[in-house]
Amino acid sequence: MSRQEAFFKHITEGNTNKGEYITLGSAMLDGKTVKNAYVNVPLKTMNRHGLIAGATGTGKTKTLQVLAENLSEKGVPVLLMDIKGDLSGLAKPSPGHPKIDERHEAIGLPFEPKSFPVEILTLSEQNGVRLRATISEFGPVLISRILDVTETQAGIISVIFKYCDDNKLPLLDLKDFKKILQYATSEGKEEFEEAYGRISTASTGAILRKIVEIEQQGGELFFGEKSFEVDDLLRVDDNGRGYINIIRLTDIQDKPKLFSTFMLSLLAEIYSTFPEQGDTGRPELIMFIDEAHLIFNEASKALLSQIESIVKLIRSKGVGLYFVTQNPTDVPEAVLSQLGLKVQHALRAFTAKDRKAIKLTAQNYPDTEYYDTADVLTSLGTGEALVSALNEKGRPTPLAATMMRAPMSRMDILTDTELSNLLSDSKLVKKYNEKIDRESAYEMLNKKIELAEKEEQLEKAKQEKAALEKAKSKSSSSRKSTRMNPIVKVLTSATFIRSVFGILTKVMKK
Ligand SMILES: Nc1ncnc2c1ncn2[C@@H]1O[C@H](COP(=O)(O)OP(=O)(O)O)[C@@H](O)[C@H]1O
Ligand SMILES: [Mg+2]
Repeated sequence: MSRQEAFFKHITEGNTNKGEYITLGSAMLDGKTVKNAYVNVPLKTMNRHGLIAGATGTGKTKTLQVLAENLSEKGVPVLLMDIKGDLSGLAKPSPGHPKIDERHEAIGLPFEPKSFPVEILTLSEQNGVRLRATISEFGPVLISRILDVTETQAGIISVIFKYCDDNKLPLLDLKDFKKILQYATSEGKEEFEEAYGRISTASTGAILRKIVEIEQQGGELFFGEKSFEVDDLLRVDDNGRGYINIIRLTDIQDKPKLFSTFMLSLLAEIYSTFPEQGDTGRPELIMFIDEAHLIFNEASKALLSQIESIVKLIRSKGVGLYFVTQNPTDVPEAVLSQLGLKVQHALRAFTAKDRKAIKLTAQNYPDTEYYDTADVLTSLGTGEALVSALNEKGRPTPLAATMMRAPMSRMDILTDTELSNLLSDSKLVKKYNEKIDRESAYEMLNKKIELAEKEEQLEKAKQEKAALEKAKSKSSSSRKSTRMNPIVKVLTSATFIRSVFGILTKVMKK
């Protein structure tokens, strides 16, 4: 058997699967694409997380696009963190190109231009489905982490939440949260002291200053109603294709706190609401973070440690997390060691630091009889990558320099008109983008303060009213409403979620 034949056998045998899989392209030997030597990734191990790395312009984002498309086709929903804003083209078919035909001819795969079901989401004022969450849903533990407060201040935040629970005051937005903090040391001082002990103005002042920091990064847009239900990320269209949810984060770089807040809440909610997955052989949701180094560089310690713990835990929920970044060393070591799929595009050897990074990266891959890894790393062309996946048994597939297939959708972004058409057709935009500001802690406390001022009159009126009501209820049969009070509903669900978060934090500390 020739070396070429042996290689073909090595690759095809190592990429044979019983269950469903996606094809990334064909393997290359000595710089040439070997037709039909397909490099496959089984769906079964895609919850084992992954990395797409390589220098700028080597094809990382297109690899992400290819993965997202092929997952969608298999009915797996996808969530993309689009930091540079270059992924909306997934909603339109590729116009095609002679170079793409050439590529696919070499790989031995037909090229079919296609569009995919896409939702555009946003954390800020950009167009898209608005992602929001209420303060109640966050709970005291997560809020304290996000605000990065001291133990004492975290204790006060817990007391505030307890008070709001006890008094049925919904904490929806930052306005509510600030109001109750002020109330605890002014009008409500005695009431608080009696029930929970003294709260110092210095501490609430410090917490308020931390809230201002979040506000300055657009937090008031994020906190509030209507809160996003993570189940809406799991939609499949009428043709059985998974939705590709793209979160536009182009304006997030100068708002690291807001991004950390969002990621923490998303990961925690996914973890607490997704059911434990049996051996279904396919992932529930795949998340990609493009330009992840921008996130890791700015990420809070809380986010980093949460990501490190959650990558271990979230796997069992059928959720895979994929990082797209320039250097593998951008990803925290604890995360790196857990990644199942690695797609390494070319690295450039300009500086001594570059050469060191190449050496380090090469060490993460086994040398094979077909490749000198460090050599391949610097000689890969655009849209070519070293791929190492996990087979259905969880063992590494043969290392393959791979000619990646081209995206079936457009490699360029949508025009403004295309984007606004997409958004006007979106069910989720209709569901989430109406602005709600219903009565919550802010309004209720203001009322309470007013009421207290008129206490005497009120007390009197109350007594009269009670007497009247008594007389009434005697005459008419009671007509109690069976509908749940919306405020009670929020509180009960918030309490539920919070206790789950409590469990989560315990798990995290282990
Ligand atoms: N799989 C691919 N198929 C076809 N062209 C590709 C592929 N990967 C990369 N390219 C080409 O290379 C360019 C840069 O790729 P991109 O993914 O944006 O790089 P990166 O994200 O690493 O900076 C693309 O605009 C495209 O022309
Ligand atoms: Mg890119």
